[in-house]
Amino acid sequence: MKIFIDTANLEMIKEINSWGILDGVTTNPSLIAKEGTDVRTRVKEIAKIVDGPISAEAMSPKWEDMVEEGRELSKIHKNINVKLPMCIDSLKATKVLSSEGIDVNMTLIFSPQQALMAAKAGAKYVSPFIGRLDDIGMYGTDLLDQICGVFDNYSYDTEVIAASIRSPVHVLDAALAGCDIATIPYDILLKMVAHPKTDEGIAKFISDYEKTKKK
Ligand code: G3P
Repeated sequence: MKIFIDTANLEMIKEINSWGILDGVTTNPSLIAKEGTDVRTRVKEIAKIVDGPISAEAMSPKWEDMVEEGRELSKIHKNINVKLPMCIDSLKATKVLSSEGIDVNMTLIFSPQQALMAAKAGAKYVSPFIGRLDDIGMYGTDLLDQICGVFDNYSYDTEVIAASIRSPVHVLDAALAGCDIATIPYDILLKMVAHPKTDEGIAKFISDYEKTKKK
């Protein structure tokens, strides 16, 4: 499973990239706003750090304008893909952009039917938001299983990005469902490394090593 970081914070991206585990980056308007910058400036900066797909969200409501905005965003760097929110206009824009070789990440996916339509329109990625389903008392993980199952049944090339991840267990759910990618916030990536038994083991090895040193 590929690991993307879900942030627009450059320091976090640099840090995780230095671990050798980072395959790409997703941003959204809320994450960009948090950094006090704009999408064009920030994705250009991110592309200098990470050699992998970077999502930049187009915000035009009408499909003709989405297409124009998507073309402009894709010109920023070869690794940029255009994030569009699931709706009829986005399907129309996806059809055009994908026919021009511009990758689309269809976001705000909350049902397998939405994912199926996005794949048929030519989306390179679909982003099911599992945490936000958990928020309303549903099982976000079920959605991952369903989308991966449907895509496997019909051999769609569209890649599934598990998004709105809120815990290391969500990452495990994504991997067990067979998602191609999980896009993970920085704090969850830190938690994925940690284990109390590892810390305990390291402390014991250090104390035993100290005993072996010549006095
Ligand atoms: O990748 C989508 C993600 O940014 C949304 O996460 O936590 O706002 O539901 P969240």
